[in-house]
Amino acid sequence: MFNIILFGPPGSGKGTQSEKLISAYGLKHLSTGDILRSEIASQTALGLEARNFMDKGELVPDEVVIGMIRSALEKNPQAKGFLFDGFPRTEAQSKALDELLKQKQTEIGVVLALQVSEEELIKRLLNRGLTSGRPDDDNAEVVKARIAEYHKKTSAVADYYRRFNKVVNISGEGTVEEIFESLCAEIDKRNMINI
Ligand code: AP5
Ligand code: MG
Repeated sequence: MFNIILFGPPGSGKGTQSEKLISAYGLKHLSTGDILRSEIASQTALGLEARNFMDKGELVPDEVVIGMIRSALEKNPQAKGFLFDGFPRTEAQSKALDELLKQKQTEIGVVLALQVSEEELIKRLLNRGLTSGRPDDDNAEVVKARIAEYHKKTSAVADYYRRFNKVVNISGEGTVEEIFESLCAEIDKRNMINI
């Protein structure tokens, strides 16, 4: 198995690049943001609880998202690898993920960290907010709160995996295709096909 964390602040292109990477490498895409939005759409109790945090740009509690990832891993025993997008987002989530993967006798192969300036992030998210219907995109204060939450809690995830020498920084500015090629080059270097 080869497991990847696609890491980066809100709007850095994780979702966009994930779509391309899963089709290129046949990985199972696990996006906690997408799972939470589908829970909201289905009006489940979990979705209704999560919405209170998401609408303010705050992180949903660790135990909620860790439980979601635990069950997604259990539901996909045949996966040849996972692409984690938007998870882990705190050091506690990182430790829980490492433990869950250990139980499956696997681990994170690489953390690909997209680097995008704050100005560009805000521009991208507000621009998408014009049409996406995502309530956390159409308000500058909420977009800024998401970025602040990233600095306060999520940048620690990169620090955590740096201790294990697993983090590679990739420029997340430029065309979607250019960024995709840089990501593929890092994955191919690690020869994931043979793992
Ligand atoms: P989540 O859904 O994960 O959102 P996010 O990380 O805040 O940001 P996005 O998904 O909007 O950005 P992205 O990096 O995927 O970029 P994208 O490709 O979409 O989380 C939402 C909320 O859920 C959180 O705030 C939190 O409340 C909760 N949550 C989720 N996971 C959680 C967790 N693990 N723990 C706790 N809470 C959690 O691109 C953005 C825009 O830019 C698009 O319009 C795209 O077309 C455009 N774009 C992409 N690439 C380029 C490019 N190269 N050039 C120009 N534009 C580009
Ligand atoms: Mg996303």
